[in-house]
Amino acid sequence: MKTSSSLCLLISVAAFASGCAKKDTAATSAVPSPTTASAPVAAAPAPAAGPRTITIESSDAMKFNVTRIEVAAGEDLKVILKNAGTLPKEAMGHNWVLLKAGTDVNAYCAAAISARATDYLPPAQADKVLAHTKMLGPKQSDEVVFKAPTQPGEYPFVCTFPAHAMAGMKGVMIVK
Ligand code: CU
Repeated sequence: MKTSSSLCLLISVAAFASGCAKKDTAATSAVPSPTTASAPVAAAPAPAAGPRTITIESSDAMKFNVTRIEVAAGEDLKVILKNAGTLPKEAMGHNWVLLKAGTDVNAYCAAAISARATDYLPPAQADKVLAHTKMLGPKQSDEVVFKAPTQPGEYPFVCTFPAHAMAGMKGVMIVK
């Protein structure tokens, strides 16, 4: 009695564990018990194919080629920033910084100007940043994987290199 109940517990633990794992069903099918047949592993929806990728290009003209991104609340995203420019990073670096809804973009970027040591991300305002790439030099790229905010709204994004956002290097992520 005792052994069979603990075996049963073992099986359900195994079934639960495989439900959480990606696709390790071999372990459960190896257990010779009909109880595993009812485990909802096979019925579970296939895991998502990974985050949706959004590629943004920056240029020496201080512009993003994408200025409006519509996403679903909580969506898994990968933003890739590619710097197509040729000017040196010290003069024409670019990053992609997503800020909280309602952030005073001008104030944030003003603070960024004096944050050269941290690639123009002001540490005192780190709580405003939802996601960001690193600062890129010519022909460099970087990516950031994150979850879209769960709160619908408009989330500004900017390049925080001095004066770039003012020159128009900004956009908005719309969370629906
Ligand atoms: Cu820039």
